[in-house]
This record gives sequence, structure tokens and C-alpha cells, in this order.
Amino acid sequence: MTDYSTSMRTDRCGDLRVDDVGRDVTLCGWVDRRREHGEHLAFVDLRDRSGVVQLVVDGAQDLRSEYVLQVSGTVRERPADTANDSLATGAVEIDTAEVTVLSVAEPPPFPLDDRTDVDEVLRLRHRYVDLRRPRLQRNLEVRARVTSAVRGAMEEQGFVEVETPMLIASTPEGARDFVVPSRKEPGSFYALPQSPQIFKQLCMVGGVDRYYQIARCLRDEDLRADRQFEFMQLDAEASFVSQDDVLSFISHAVSAAAEAVTGEGLGEIPRMSWQEAQERFGSDKPDIRFGMELVELTEAFTDTEFRAFQASCVKGIRVPGGADVSRNRLDDLTEQCKRWGAKGLVWMRVTDDGLDSPVAKFLTDDEKAALAMTLEAEVGDLLLLVADERRTVRHVLGLLRLELGRPPVTEGGLHFLWVVDFPLFEGLDEAGNPIPAHHPFTMPHEEDLETLERGDLLDVRSQAYDLVLNGWELGSGSVRIHRGDVQERIFSILGIGSEEAHAKFGFLLDAFRYGAPPHAGFAFGMDRLTAILAGEENIREVIAYPKTQSGADPLTSAPTPIDDRHLDELGLRVLPPVE
Ligand code: AMO
Ligand code: AMP
Repeated sequence: MTDYSTSMRTDRCGDLRVDDVGRDVTLCGWVDRRREHGEHLAFVDLRDRSGVVQLVVDGAQDLRSEYVLQVSGTVRERPADTANDSLATGAVEIDTAEVTVLSVAEPPPFPLDDRTDVDEVLRLRHRYVDLRRPRLQRNLEVRARVTSAVRGAMEEQGFVEVETPMLIASTPEGARDFVVPSRKEPGSFYALPQSPQIFKQLCMVGGVDRYYQIARCLRDEDLRADRQFEFMQLDAEASFVSQDDVLSFISHAVSAAAEAVTGEGLGEIPRMSWQEAQERFGSDKPDIRFGMELVELTEAFTDTEFRAFQASCVKGIRVPGGADVSRNRLDDLTEQCKRWGAKGLVWMRVTDDGLDSPVAKFLTDDEKAALAMTLEAEVGDLLLLVADERRTVRHVLGLLRLELGRPPVTEGGLHFLWVVDFPLFEGLDEAGNPIPAHHPFTMPHEEDLETLERGDLLDVRSQAYDLVLNGWELGSGSVRIHRGDVQERIFSILGIGSEEAHAKFGFLLDAFRYGAPPHAGFAFGMDRLTAILAGEENIREVIAYPKTQSGADPLTSAPTPIDDRHLDELGLRVLPPVE
């Protein structure tokens, strides 16, 4: 047990119990709530990090919400009928002899209980007040526990913590860089790291063997519930390992984190190939907490007369008990699917009299029977079908499935999943160059090297893997290319010319000339893991000082303009805003 007594207090408010009755104690904290009791007495709840305890004070004293007090008094048992079972300290109160006001306080800008919904900007502007709420106190503790457990697990496995620089040249994670202008070299810029990717690979060339870091990463991208400009990764890399070794290291770390919060570690984390994830869930981060899987129907419609289904792929999902959905909602869903890229959406209500659908008349009895059987349709279900190119069908039905069935990310326990065998390239850009699915240092699958040389780029699998938790992408990693010649080949396939490759990553290619060990690694989002473990749907609830959705910090007003003298020093001019 930690000793929390200091020169100013003997105990923490929330720690007092019936066992302490009769003790003289000195406490420090904030006035949480005050209630008048008769003419001369008042009850004051005093709060510190550990919780609250009830003080009985002289009603004449001016003790307002959020005043900071030091109080001395005796712990006594509350009369049985006034005990508060919902409070850890509810059986006792402090018969207060002396109160010192350490700080007065203006009325807080919002109530500090966890029940009131407060505007985000207001909360962040007064984050120091917001942080006093039990919810955030708890979240910060969960976060610290997760960080400590992950650190412990990595160290137990022989990983060495290495710090990498913040002022660097651009990294290849694919988001926009935050940049910092150089004063010594006006017109030149440092990039802030999107990840320590290149440095950790250089650590492997440097013989570090097992590297890890709880690393701050910065990416200038649109913010969402699971995205901030700044976030933390558990970043790791190891030499002389295979994919299986990395999966085992990381499984161990997330299991330790889960155990530190829930008291229970994880069993073996299941694996699924990227291909299977796409076919069954229409996603590379399948939410396996619920069914409504994508069902293959192409074969049932090979000879169909129905124009819409004369496509290379037809799939459907079954919404159990969904038949009572309104016509309006079905029209909305159809429009939604079109925005996602589909040509339309076929819906069918399963009734006692068969399939009720505007397109039922275009389908043969055999087709209807086949689709009902394949989808395992039951009376009262709603069936939703899309026909198109395979990629489009999977994409649209994957999103539709989430729209219709997805529980909040914090519900239903922890469902981790490894997704393995990602394709090396996720598609082609406008210029016809392949887009790497992970980053350009990812090793192709050994078995697919021939396919690569044949030029069937989109069929090449990579040795890349993701960790998914409740439908959130928690982390990514890969076996890396450690040979300069293979790396140069991939750069050339990516349309990155030798000159550009050397300008951007020359130091890495150089390093590979001096003896690079085979190596592989991974990084997962500490904020995302902590949020789900803390039962929060937005990572900003587990970050002490997050940004708003628009990327501002209402507390410090960042970002702010800088003065002309400073701009001159940096050799910069600000242009008027573009109309
Ligand atoms: P990747 O880019 O997939 O991989 O990032 C790894 C994990 O970092 C978290 N993450 C974020 N969290 C909060 N806000 C963001 N804006 C944000 N962006 C990413 C996610 C994500 O899964 N260097 C590679 C890893 C490797 O190959 O070893 C990398 O950074 O949880
Ligand atoms: P249409 O023949 O375009 O009038 O479409 C008839 C019905 O089929 C409408 O409900 C459309 O939303 C739907 N539909 C059209 N094309 C597709 C498609 N490729 N996949 C699924 N449904 C479609």
C-alpha cells in the first residue's frame, strides 16, 4: 500500500473506512458539494483523487464549490439511517474541528459530476477542471496502468527502450507531415515523425536486436473518434524473427495490458486472412462481435434475367428480424449504398407468403429459393443484396453491415483478431502506379515473388499483419525487406525512381549495404487500446490534453499566428488565405 500521508495531510479522503473511526485525521481536497443541515451545521463532501468523504462543519463557514481546504477532525461512524452505501466512505464522516481555506475558487464552468453532458470545447478550455471529474481521473489511471503493463511485457521479452528523434526528414506512413521550419537553413523544414519506422529499422542494422518505444507520433489528418494529430504507439522491431515471433511478442503485450485493467489476460488471439476478412466481413478490420456476415450468392444468379444481378459478384446479408424496417429507411439505405459506390440495393422482406420485394417479380422461383436457402432466411428477416465488381460488393456490404449491426466499440468484451496475408498493394493510383497497402519496406510473401515479377501486382500477398480490436484497427506491422536490391525493385514498381528513392530514403538503402539482419516489427495505438479498456468510445477521453475535432486546443488557443520578427528569422511569409 502506498503511503499518501504528507506534511499537510494524514490520509486521503476516499480511503477512510469504519476501521478508522476514532482517529484524528487531517485531509486536503476540493469542496465537491455542500448541503445545509439545520441552522448551524452543513455537510460538505471533500474530494481528492481517491474519492470523497463527508465533513460535518459549522454552517457559518463560507465554503463554496471547488474551494481547496485543509481540514482536521475525528472520524466517526454515521448514524445507520444516514449511511450511504453507494459511496466507499459512506459509513463514516468527519467531525470537523478546524478548516483552513487553502484557495478560494470561482464557480466551476460546468458541473463536475459524470452525469452531465458538457460541451467539448468548454471542457477542453477548462481541462484542468474537467480532469477533476472521477471519469477522467479513472481514465488517466487506466492509461498509466496500460503503459506500465506494456512496458513491463516488452522488457520481460528482452526489448530495449530506445528514443528516436522528433525533428527528422519525412517518414513514409502516408499521412500528411507536420513540419517545423529551420532557422539555420531558411526554406528548409524538419518533419515531425509519423512513426519511428525508419529509425527502428536502422536500430536493427545497428544490432539493437529487440527495440521498443512508447513513441509519440504526429500525423496531419482529419480527426475522428479514434484519431488525433498526436498519439502514442507501442512501437517495436526485432531481428532474426518471423511473423509468428512478432505476433507472439505483441499478443503478450496486449494481454498484459488487458490483465492490468480487467484482471484477466487474453487467450490465444484468433487469426484470419485478409482475403477471408474481405469475403466474410467486407473489411480488413472485421468486427467479429456480431454476425450478419456477407454471404456469397453469385452462383445462384449465373443465368439470371434480372439485369442488376448480371454482375461478376452478388452477395447478401441477412438482418435477423429486420423485416419491419420502414420503406423510408430502406430508401435511405439504398441512397447510402449508392454514396458508398453501389449501383443500388435490393431489399427483400421474408414473409409467410415468400419474399416481399420490388424486384421479386424479376427473379425465378429457383433463384428465390437458392438465395433464401444460402442466406438461411427465416420469416421476419430482412435480406439485403448488392451486385457489382467483387471489391465494390464487399466494400458496400461491409459498411452496410456495420451501419445495421455494430454495437458501440466498448460493448461485448474484448474481441481481438489478427488479420494476416494483406496484399502488397491495395490498388492503383491515377498514374497506374500501385499503392502500397502498408509501407514500401514491407516484404512480399516468399511464395508470391514470381507473381510479382510476372506483374500481377494486385495478387501479390505481403508479410504484413494487423491487429483488430472490436472492429478498430489497433495496430499494424510487417516483415521488412532487408535487402537493398529487393527494396530498390519495390521502389521501382511503386514508380519511385532510383533518384527519388535515394533522395528520400538513401540513408536506409545505404545502411542496408552494411549488413542488415532480417527483421520485422509492429506498432499499436496506445490511445485506442486504452480507450477500449477504459470503456470510452473516443480516444480524447483517455488523453490528458487532446485537440478538438477541428484540431484546435481551446486551452492554449493553439494553433496561433506568430509575429513578423519570428517569421523573418525563419525566412517565411504568410500568404493571404486562398478564396
Ligand atoms: P500504422 O500507420 O498502421 O503503422 O499505425 C499503427 C497504429 O497507430 C495508431 N494510429 C493512431 N492513433 C490515433 N490517432 C491517429 N491519428 C493514429 N494513426 C495511427 C493505430 C494504428 O493501427 N510504422 C508502422 C508500424 C510498423 O510497420 O511497425 C505504423 O505506424 O492504432
Ligand atoms: P433498376 O433496375 O436500376 O431500376 O433497379 C431495380 C432495383 O434494383 C432497385 O431497387 C435498385 O436499387 C436495385 N439495384 C440496381 N442495381 C443494383 C445492383 N448492382 N446491386 C444491387 N441492387 C441493385
